[in-house]
Amino acid sequence: MPAIVLVGAQWGDEGKGKATDLLGSSLDYVVKFNGGNNAGHTIVIGSGAAAEKYALHLLPSGILTPTCTPVIGNGVVIDLGVLFQEIDGLEGRGVDTSKLVVSASAHVITPYNRVLDRVTERFLGARKIGTTGRGIGPTYADKMSRTGIRIQDLFDENILRQKVEAALDVKNQLLAKIYNRRAVQAEDVIGELRSYVDRLAPMVRDTSLLLEQALDRGDTVLLEAGQATLLDVDFGTYPFVTSSNATAGGACTGSGIPPTRIDGVIAVLKAYTTRVGEGPFPTELDDARGQFLRKTGAEYGTTTGRPRRCGWMDTVIGRYATRINGVTDFVLTKLDVLTGLDTVPICVAYDVDGVRHNTMPVNQSDFHHAVPVYEELPGWWEDISSCRSYDELPENARRYVERVEWLVGARVSAIGVGPGRDAIIERHEMRPARGFAGPA
Ligand code: GDP
Ligand code: IMO
Ligand code: MG
Repeated sequence: MPAIVLVGAQWGDEGKGKATDLLGSSLDYVVKFNGGNNAGHTIVIGSGAAAEKYALHLLPSGILTPTCTPVIGNGVVIDLGVLFQEIDGLEGRGVDTSKLVVSASAHVITPYNRVLDRVTERFLGARKIGTTGRGIGPTYADKMSRTGIRIQDLFDENILRQKVEAALDVKNQLLAKIYNRRAVQAEDVIGELRSYVDRLAPMVRDTSLLLEQALDRGDTVLLEAGQATLLDVDFGTYPFVTSSNATAGGACTGSGIPPTRIDGVIAVLKAYTTRVGEGPFPTELDDARGQFLRKTGAEYGTTTGRPRRCGWMDTVIGRYATRINGVTDFVLTKLDVLTGLDTVPICVAYDVDGVRHNTMPVNQSDFHHAVPVYEELPGWWEDISSCRSYDELPENARRYVERVEWLVGARVSAIGVGPGRDAIIERHEMRPARGFAGPA
């Protein structure tokens, strides 16, 4: 299985980090292809008192697998301060990060991008997006406006100075005249960015070429998304989205691997739904049941610490994720969190002003007004966290998995039953073949 894409099926935090970690030993390269340090992946290695918890933001999850080369692709936006903080933090805990490779064409999050993210959110007031405030949107905006700073620009001080000064000509007008903020000094920006050059230089490569050569050798490459399908700038709940393509298509543009070399798409689907930040969320629960999911599932953001909004499984979204990403295998995470419910609701369709929608409404107002149509499945009470084979799961838990599988339209190949690295049931080997159609 040479090139595989791994994406989130919902609004993020589905457990992508853990799913990548599960595949870890069979992978030669793990490539982060979009987003930046807005992502937050928690990986728990070991259990009980010996449990080691790692929170990654910018580094690909493959960094925790010694045999794997982690790659930050051209589609990523990089905050260099965060990059080196994360590297130092891992090195301090004995993790070898020396194999990390960074694309020369990735864009850099500058200090003015961070400032602009925060002031524009404040300016929007009640209409805010609820961003992570990390400068993601403004950096991608600069990339598209062709005023961005790329990793390769840092190595030529003259080019860097020209680009920073040109960007600041406009940004400082905005900051001073619209947002009433102090101007940013070009020398401060250049000084900060240039201070990373010596450490950065040995990591920088043409990563598209590197990955092409790896695939030619028969190596296995995992393309790991940050964020998720409904946060994708084209296919998500716009404007309440992030500013990159977090769906499978983004894996190609964000890494330089062509679509004809992709062999499978794994999507990570949480057994219920969560969302951080603003925007519509049809199955959201504002009551004790939502609090139950938040508490039992420890649903607090890895990046900002914000409580995540929680609700039931929405298979309209699941089907949409299957369609947009061409999903060949699902990893269903956090099934353990649903233990102890009398019945487990699954949203199977929406009612929009009396009209049933089995697919995602294309019109944003319809999605805002969507009322979930639920099916109730019987719950289970047995502790499933130590189950390691599908047959060990209680019958009602299996019924839930199989119903979700049927409704989302692709097989569930692995099931998460706890946060730990080994708390997973592998149901089908994830060797996705082209042409797989529908559930097993
Ligand atoms: P990501 O952004 O998709 O990588 O997900 P996050 O790491 O932000 O959030 C997922 C959280 O769920 C993390 O704290 C994981 O340790 C945890 N987790 C992952 N899989 C499972 C599971 O199957 N059961 C439980 N209880 N927790 C899980
Ligand atoms: P992982 O990779 C959940 C959300 C923010 C906000 C919107 C835009 O851990 O799944 P941004 O700072 O990207 O401009 O914010 O996107 N968001 C995430 N929500 N998980 C994430 O990443 C997210 N990355 C961004 O909360 O609503
Ligand atoms: Mg996360």
